[in-house]
Amino acid sequence: MTISLAMPTIRQSKPSGEALLDAGVGELRDHTGRVAKDLRVSLTDRCNLRCTYCMPEEGMEWIPTEEVLSDEEVIRLIRIGVQRLGIEQVRFTGGEPLLRRSLEHIIAETAALTTRTKQKPTIALTSNALGLDKRAEALAHAGLDRVNLSLDTLNPQRYKALTRRDRLADAIKGIEAAIDAGLKPVKINTVVMKGVNEDDVLPLARFALEHRCQLRFIEQMPIGPREQWRREDMVTAEAIIATLGTELSMTPSSKPRGSAPAALWQVQAKDDAQLVGEIGVIASVTHPFCGDCDRTRLTTDGAIRNCLFAHAETSLRDLMRDGASDAELAEAWAQAMWPKAYGHGINDPSFVQPERTMSAIGG
Ligand code: GTP
Ligand code: 5AD
Ligand code: SF4
Repeated sequence: MTISLAMPTIRQSKPSGEALLDAGVGELRDHTGRVAKDLRVSLTDRCNLRCTYCMPEEGMEWIPTEEVLSDEEVIRLIRIGVQRLGIEQVRFTGGEPLLRRSLEHIIAETAALTTRTKQKPTIALTSNALGLDKRAEALAHAGLDRVNLSLDTLNPQRYKALTRRDRLADAIKGIEAAIDAGLKPVKINTVVMKGVNEDDVLPLARFALEHRCQLRFIEQMPIGPREQWRREDMVTAEAIIATLGTELSMTPSSKPRGSAPAALWQVQAKDDAQLVGEIGVIASVTHPFCGDCDRTRLTTDGAIRNCLFAHAETSLRDLMRDGASDAELAEAWAQAMWPKAYGHGINDPSFVQPERTMSAIGG
């Protein structure tokens, strides 16, 4: 099996101190030539689960409310991204974004924007699905197009141990509600962990095929509690594919991958010709896709991060609260993206995990 490893090669020069945008209008290009069109907006750092790979059981320090962007501030920055900086897709994340009560309102305001190509921005949500059964219809009505929902096991006891909450039935209800509400595609995210949920891989694959969802198995990355990641405990994409191959016939998808993190496979159950669909593997660690990255991130407290693993951030909130104009905010955003690193560096001996964990950055 081969997975392409595009790495950016074009280095572009920017005279230091010069503006990147013309009157605050342009694109989010970095020094390697990658252009960010996918904005990931974290709406809260809180969550109603405590997944072991993401948060400690107790003692999380939450971002104080006054530091969190208000609805108006979030909507203003999304508008600047879409109207001035070429953003085409907006994904809401958390923590758990469904905990933001105004999510429907923020989505409706985003849906009212028009991209450079005169489209509504594609609007996506990454969620744990808890409570989605009550909100999927309203979210779809507000303009949400698609959802990525986490599900790491189908075993209630294991779900409880992994998430520290007894909510498997609610998560499944949420996934089914998303399908019923016509959100498309519904993707399921499964982080695979050695000795924890490896034997869920095949049951989850069948569950997703039966529900006509696209399941993506994910290599665990070093971005949660520090003691939670050990390279030798990581279940690699190669091992996941080998497991899937025991019960499924698999053909690499012929669709162009673009900047998507998942390598996709067309699959069919060996014992049931009706059970067909698409399964993905996100090999962030063993086959990084940073060369094709088109992401920019806005944290709950209004900072731009040019990479999930960045160590530097630019607070647009502080500029905004000091009275910056839209053009000034756009320029600061473009400047923040320019030095984006070639890649996350997880595989370098000098790798240092970012100070913030995934829930505080936005997944
Ligand atoms: P689509 O492919 O557009 O549906 O979204 P996505 O897969 O990027 O988003 P999602 O929030 O569902 O993230 C799924 C997994 O991708 C996460 O668990 C991460 O493992 C990985 N991922 C998401 N964003 C990044 C990123 O910026 N860098 C890296 N290396 N991995 C990421
Ligand atoms: N490595 C890989 N994926 C992770 N996620 C959370 N923490 C990690 C990690 N350390 C996943 C969640 C969710 C998505 C936003 O990121 O399971 O599906
Ligand atoms: Fe993009 Fe950074 Fe994620 Fe790589 S690690 S895909 S560069 S955000």
